[in-house]
Amino acid sequence: MLRRVLRQCYSLHRPTVPRRLYRRFCSSPSETTATTISIDRSTLYNPPEHTHHPTSDSELVKHLKGIIKFRGGPISLGEYMSEVLTNPKAGYYINRDVFGAEGDFITSPEVSQMFGEQMGQPQRINLVELGPGRGTLMADLLRGASKFKNFIESLHVHLVECSPALQKLQHQNLKCVGEENASQDTDVRTARSLFGTPVSWHAMLEQIPSGLPTIIIAHEFFDALPVHQFQKASRGWCEKMVDVAEDSSFRFVLSPQPTPATLYLLKRLKWAAPEEFAELNQIEICPQAMELTQTIVDRISSDGGGALIIDYGMNGVISNSLQAIRKHKFVNLLDNPGSADLSAYVDFASIRHSAEEASGEVCVHGPITQSQFLGSLGINFRVEALLQNCTEEQAETLRTGYWKLVGDGEAPFWEGPDQDVPIGMGTRYQAMAIVNKNHGVPVPFQ
Ligand SMILES: C[S@@+](CC[C@H](N)C(=O)[O-])C[C@H]1O[C@@H](n2cnc3c(N)ncnc32)[C@H](O)[C@@H]1O
Repeated sequence: MLRRVLRQCYSLHRPTVPRRLYRRFCSSPSETTATTISIDRSTLYNPPEHTHHPTSDSELVKHLKGIIKFRGGPISLGEYMSEVLTNPKAGYYINRDVFGAEGDFITSPEVSQMFGEQMGQPQRINLVELGPGRGTLMADLLRGASKFKNFIESLHVHLVECSPALQKLQHQNLKCVGEENASQDTDVRTARSLFGTPVSWHAMLEQIPSGLPTIIIAHEFFDALPVHQFQKASRGWCEKMVDVAEDSSFRFVLSPQPTPATLYLLKRLKWAAPEEFAELNQIEICPQAMELTQTIVDRISSDGGGALIIDYGMNGVISNSLQAIRKHKFVNLLDNPGSADLSAYVDFASIRHSAEEASGEVCVHGPITQSQFLGSLGINFRVEALLQNCTEEQAETLRTGYWKLVGDGEAPFWEGPDQDVPIGMGTRYQAMAIVNKNHGVPVPFQ
């Protein structure tokens, strides 16, 4: 019955294209001449793509041009991405709510409450979420766990969030009351959630006190970490950099010599399979993801616990996936920086290698697709139960949400829609777990 309902629902209400649909972005040819900045750029090659001609400079554009000018040369794409997303004054995430229909994109926890409820029931004391957005996933998770009084009482929630505006939304959505300083020596803010759980905010994972078993959740966090891109040229691998052209627009150039990120490139190339390596002319790497994985693994090895990483990505080398998304549309990467989200595919193979290299005390499981992950946690039973007790309007929203979460032709246990058309985040999004090896294999990965 449910299958039929879902079929009908699909044909009537095909969900919109998911947020980070992979697509190549074509742009106009770019300049190859020298810039107004008085340094020698004679050895720089400008790849023929992505030129942008701004009309008036925003604060962030002025800031980026200032760095390039005073540094005396172009900046890496990674530094550009980092400034665009998290610059403390004008970064994309810093001052606003970017999610939902009114925002620029939508993520799984915003699609349906079913996502958060399926995340399992951690039994450890420190529950950490990296980049919690509006706090929707954590609110769903706490609501689901609230039936287990002892467990919920043992939790201390830690949110790692760079955006003051989003911290405020998280405070609201977790229905937090009160605010106190957890320690006189730190400026960590701590409040109590609706369920009485202490909730603290931090800028970095390293700031969370160690010594307690820790569960770390990162949903669409790794894809926001700055990536660097390299291209193979006659002189070897060159990093793609962002420069200012003569007409004052941003443009891409290639580095004339090895850059600091080259060390990470060499590491990533070492992990590449021979068949991947042979065809490689371009590569995208994420040094911060490699470093963060090591921090996560250090914590889990010493304190116990595990990490769950869910994101869109691939289990192998990625050549060029960075995208800019504004109001649910793809836009030029260099266009009006700070007004669009930048995100890149997550290289799950690189996370696995970084974790395995960091410690022998952890096991890495997955990646598996989001559809498999939610399927083995029982999303189908949950949606069926929710459908028993709702209005027709609510049922429609549930069905649409279900297909967005598990769609893409790979919904386990149930037949999907007849057409072989991608309809959701079910396969594009992947889940990986890194667990202390004393804890066994987490259920969805068995
Ligand atoms: C794509 S959003 C995902 C939000 C949420 N997890 C979800 O799936 O709906 C990325 C989140 O990470 C935060 N963020 C991005 N870069 C960060 C950084 N370097 N440090 C801390 N938070 C960061 C953003 O402010 C935002 O909350």
